[in-house]
Amino acid sequence: MRHLMSPLDFSIEELSDLFDLAEDIEKNPAKYAHACDGKKLATCFYEPSTRTRLSFETAMINLGGSVIGFSDAGSSSAAKGESVSDTIRVISCFADICAMRHPKEGAPMVAAEKSSIPVINAGDGGHQHPTQTLTDLLTIRALKGRLNHFTIGLCGDLKFGRTVHSLINALVRYDNIKFIFISPEELRIPDYITDMLKQNSIPYKEVIRLEDTIADLDLLYMTRVQKERFFNEEDYVRLKDFYILDRAKMSLAKEDMLVLHPLPRVNEISVEVDEDKRAAYFKQVQYGVYVRMALILTLLGIRV
Ligand code: NCD
Repeated sequence: MRHLMSPLDFSIEELSDLFDLAEDIEKNPAKYAHACDGKKLATCFYEPSTRTRLSFETAMINLGGSVIGFSDAGSSSAAKGESVSDTIRVISCFADICAMRHPKEGAPMVAAEKSSIPVINAGDGGHQHPTQTLTDLLTIRALKGRLNHFTIGLCGDLKFGRTVHSLINALVRYDNIKFIFISPEELRIPDYITDMLKQNSIPYKEVIRLEDTIADLDLLYMTRVQKERFFNEEDYVRLKDFYILDRAKMSLAKEDMLVLHPLPRVNEISVEVDEDKRAAYFKQVQYGVYVRMALILTLLGIRV
């Protein structure tokens, strides 16, 4: 039995097969409409979510399966003090596969150890968000035609943003990727990530101003300042509007630069950018459903 805790749980070849499957699902949805008939997905979300949970649920429904779960720790037995290990043992009796989001780093991993069904980490604290990374990689591959040879700028909350941490982890395995980290001093990328890049001789640069570097980028990954992970409101208020990508900044960028964002967006991308053909963040949401469908099939060992 296989779980998904980090994007590194899949080899490059396995990821490539997963993306091929996702692209086949996109082209031939009817072929997969009954692939999971009779199967159940449990979504155990101890932290707020719109797209990740609904994307998983849509993925399972598109495959002919059904969905159970909770979207708020307060409405689950966690409120009575039940441990994640006990909850997953119980869920294992009900469902065939589980997607779990938790505010504590490592909680889905603890669940996986006690689970008799595949567990997917749907975001654990500020740590990892592997299915967002699968979504990001599929989007890049589909729209750019490759997963190597590019310069990517990651902008915003690089300290707390788990989508950023997962994406970097995944991208370092592809050839000739340069990273530019764009953040205020307080929200810099953690040292454990820059140490890993140094050890692997992967080029990176840290800058504060987006305007200074946007022209160099093939991909711009914008992120929300992660309000829920701040210790005080004052710091959040000071930093929340540090970056606003608008039409003026987009005019400095390459004609074929893609703008990605895991969403939800707050103020960091002005709505005027939505009309720009380089804005790919809503397409990204659609790719998220295809890749989660491919992931569910793969972890359940179902071949169509
Ligand atoms: C992200 C997350 O939950 O980490 N959202 C998502 O799943 N698409 C990003 C965020 O909340 O800012």
